[in-house]
Amino acid sequence: MSAPQYRIAPSLLSADFARLGEEVNHVIAAGADWLHFDVMDNHYVPNLTIGPLVCQAIRPLTAAPIDVHLMVEPVDALVPMFAKAGANIITFHPEASRHVDRTLQLIREQGCQAGLVFNPATPLDWLDHLMDKIDLIMLMSVNPGFGGQSFIPSTLPKLRQARARLDAYERDNGRRILLEVDGGVKVDNIAEIARAGADTFVAGSAVFGAASKTDANRYDSVIAAMREALV
Ligand code: DX5
Ligand code: ZN
Repeated sequence: MSAPQYRIAPSLLSADFARLGEEVNHVIAAGADWLHFDVMDNHYVPNLTIGPLVCQAIRPLTAAPIDVHLMVEPVDALVPMFAKAGANIITFHPEASRHVDRTLQLIREQGCQAGLVFNPATPLDWLDHLMDKIDLIMLMSVNPGFGGQSFIPSTLPKLRQARARLDAYERDNGRRILLEVDGGVKVDNIAEIARAGADTFVAGSAVFGAASKTDANRYDSVIAAMREALV
């Protein structure tokens, strides 16, 4: 398989929303590859966050891909709205869509990359008939809804299973599907998570909770430490 190339995607969920634009600028300057954008609806998950208007507001600040993680039910109506708001990647939870194949197609038709998200208890079987329509998969290593939770260790064997499936698919089809992990990723566990097969890492509290809130450069050291752990 091709050598892993790693992406770090800070989750804006843990940013200071009163200064969101500055937070975006700082975290991009600190070396973030993607911006992870958590959308919660107080229905699929017990929390409520941000929508397409906020995505549209931060879009002009960066050329980095915006990775929209939809924790909403139903899914489809929000897909064109986020595509129009500048999303590059849209992922959703298969349990939240009546027609998973149709939702994946809709995301691509809207010009975005499409991904499925697997909760800790969601089996990878959802992949059986969908690989050709997927650009990435994301394994939740916490139950979705809140930042700052601890990494669930059973995610590691699940990552290894997902890695094997994606590698086999790449061997047969010559197309690489990314494997993202979301929840409880820190400087001290990112290497182990990478060894289990992840190539893209969401980190919320680890990045935005770092050091003093007054130091604009505080994100550089965390992101650099994560990259160093990945070498
Ligand atoms: C949880 C969200 C995550 C969250 C991760 O439902 O999907 O993206 O922000 O936060 P940390 O890195 O703090 O676990
Ligand atoms: Zn997320």
